[in-house]
Amino acid sequence: MALVSSTGLLNDARKNQYGIGAFNVHSLDMLYAVAEAAYEMRSPVIIQTTTGTVKQLGADVIAHNAKKASELYPVPIALHVDHCQEYSIILECIRAGYTSVMIDASMHPFDENVEKTLEVVKIAVPLEINVEAELGKVGGVEDEIVVEDKDAEKAIPEECVEFIRQTGVQTLAPAIGTAHGIYSGPPEIDFPRIEKIAQNVEVPLVLHGGSAIPAEEVKKCISLGMAKMNVSTELKNAYSAALQKHFEEDPKAFDPRSYFLKAKQEAKNIVKEKMELLESSGKQQFQRV
Ligand code: 13P
Repeated sequence: MALVSSTGLLNDARKNQYGIGAFNVHSLDMLYAVAEAAYEMRSPVIIQTTTGTVKQLGADVIAHNAKKASELYPVPIALHVDHCQEYSIILECIRAGYTSVMIDASMHPFDENVEKTLEVVKIAVPLEINVEAELGKVGGVEDEIVVEDKDAEKAIPEECVEFIRQTGVQTLAPAIGTAHGIYSGPPEIDFPRIEKIAQNVEVPLVLHGGSAIPAEEVKKCISLGMAKMNVSTELKNAYSAALQKHFEEDPKAFDPRSYFLKAKQEAKNIVKEKMELLESSGKQQFQRV
């Protein structure tokens, strides 16, 4: 099976009120962990990489392996670049075969965000590549992007409507109180704001900062119109904790196959848990575009 655009996956999820997990992978091992988990759960999935990972591994290498994974594990898999601020990297990803891109110009004033997003929509949408953009500012740390708590800003519902009208963007990430990275306290999700945005905007909405949100709150977000949940921190933590444990128990371990396998399994477990929570398992027969 070839990689699919995330547009069909996300539209189906929004329409039928379930969520698609979008998992940030930081190594090829993690990429295959996500694909294997999706296959075992018969779930559609989005594999995503930040621009830092694109720079480290190369868009070609990532896309080649994602394509291979979708042949080996035939469930609908989309490949997405997360929080990209650089037009040239978006082009590189599209050329390599990514099927979904996020242009994050949320740090700019509204009109500039529109302008930068439109530039990407113009090249991506005719190629059936999904475009995600952000409004407001999600707090926390995501790879190279750091937004202090004091600078985090929630999305304004009226601006969401206007932004979609002006850009034609197919997926929107409105900041609604979640944050990237490790939460210092429980996230304060602004449910009335999600409701107001979702009532006026038909495109699937994206829940950034998906790690460690209590299950009931995730379900509520999905029921209100969020269709994609991004998870990075929990995967990284599980992967790294497995490696740490292995070396604590066996400080002289020197066969990478043994410890990487354990770490991969832990990452896989997290992906499967999230698929259960999002109710995407068993949804592999969604309507493709
Ligand atoms: P977490 O850091 O909560 O996993 O969020 C990831 C994310 O939103 C990536 O865009």
